[in-house]
Amino acid sequence: MNLESEVEKSNSLVKRVGEIDFPQRKVYIKTYGCQMNEHDTQRMLSSLEDLNFDQTQEKEEADLILFNTCAIRDLANSKFYSHLGEIKHIKEKKKDVVVGVGGCVAQTEGKDLIKKYNHLDFAFGTDVIDDISSLVYRTYAGENKFSVNTWDRSRDYSIETKITHGKPQAYINIIKGCDKFCSYCIVPFTRGREKSRRVSEIVKDVQRLVEYQGIQEITLLGQNVNSFGKDNKESLAQLIIELDKIKGLALIRYTTSHPYDVSDELISVHGSSSKLSRHLHLPVQSGSNTVLQRMLREYTVEHYLGLLKKLRQARPDIVLSTDIIAGFPNETREEHEATLNLLREAQYDFIYAYSYSARPGTKAARMKDSLSEEERRQRLWEIQELQLAIQADLRQEMVGRVYRLLVDESGTKKDVLKWKGRTNCMRIVHFRPENESMDYLWHWVDVKITQATALSCQGEIVKDHGKSYPAPDLTVF
Ligand code: 5AD
Ligand code: SF4
Repeated sequence: MNLESEVEKSNSLVKRVGEIDFPQRKVYIKTYGCQMNEHDTQRMLSSLEDLNFDQTQEKEEADLILFNTCAIRDLANSKFYSHLGEIKHIKEKKKDVVVGVGGCVAQTEGKDLIKKYNHLDFAFGTDVIDDISSLVYRTYAGENKFSVNTWDRSRDYSIETKITHGKPQAYINIIKGCDKFCSYCIVPFTRGREKSRRVSEIVKDVQRLVEYQGIQEITLLGQNVNSFGKDNKESLAQLIIELDKIKGLALIRYTTSHPYDVSDELISVHGSSSKLSRHLHLPVQSGSNTVLQRMLREYTVEHYLGLLKKLRQARPDIVLSTDIIAGFPNETREEHEATLNLLREAQYDFIYAYSYSARPGTKAARMKDSLSEEERRQRLWEIQELQLAIQADLRQEMVGRVYRLLVDESGTKKDVLKWKGRTNCMRIVHFRPENESMDYLWHWVDVKITQATALSCQGEIVKDHGKSYPAPDLTVF
């Protein structure tokens, strides 16, 4: 059903949709996991406006409570289960609250969740997120205790990016699903097969966002954006070349990548694009070839390091980051040491390191595992300690240089007001305002770095350019 067309576009306090009146209501959404989920939440909020829902941050005042779940590691999973339990008392006090669970956990476990939790009204998987208003409509039409986790079987993936937040930054889904089946990863089971949007559709989408919604920075999203366009004989490199031409767009980022699909064409775009970020997140997972084989990652450490070398040749100031899994099943001490060596060699600006967590249904979860949780924790700690030392040294080179930031937040700590922004190369920088009444939110500012540690950088403001992106300045990073 096309709800949009049935929505009365009047400004009245009640919207009539189909057979039902929708008074103004509030929705609370709890989001777990990655940027993909954050973006899905945005899409849901936008879609629920059709049913007269506004977002609230207080679950106690919500009429509709939604969980957008993540299954990638046990931690996010168990947080969700405990939050779902806590909602029970809200439903006991306020019987007409509607509760729904969506996303990755609901994709594989939706039916069981519905059976197990009396206070849960409906569950919905990852491929029906854009149908959220139809599903909520069904609950107001009297249906409950249902679960929808069907896959969209069409070959095409065509959407329009919906934004409600008013920031100049936007996430743009360009590919969904993953065909890689790394042995530890649940994503191919929760997000399905790869499907890409068309370059022409994305370019039009971004043009519209830049022109009408003030978007200046975009992040192209997918589980493996490097596979983008394969079925349509298109590529990520080609997409970036087209997006580079959009007037008014300042910065292009993409995440997340798989080293197997990083092409020479893409590397050369890192050198030639004027808008592509000077940061690349390229998950390696392990520095040991034997572990990479057991992970089914399809590349060797040598191949990976070769990619870093080529990227640094194409763009000498590129800043690199990665993901590491500590304590993959049966990882030996030598295999772990190989990861430490890789960190020394690669010189990442930051890393996300995780302790391996067995995900039901994956190949790795069926492997016999000789490691204890204590050993995994110890290895994770060693990885993090080493990386902190590496990045503390690396970041010293920032001191004295001027960086351009897009300011996104302010906060007061120990009575000192500071603003925060991100550089083109993804480093977070804090600075004090010239005077306390200045509002720098979403301004582009140039900041000279005075102090840099492994985890934070401080600077002083050199120039405030206001909200429109200033002309590039080669003396500024
Ligand atoms: N255990 C630990 N970390 C995992 N990741 C994915 N699956 C697992 C797992 N089972 C990590 C990988 C991936 C990141 C998004 O999450 O490092 O790149
Ligand atoms: Fe998971 Fe990424 Fe491997 Fe896909 S490429 S299976 S999302 S780790």
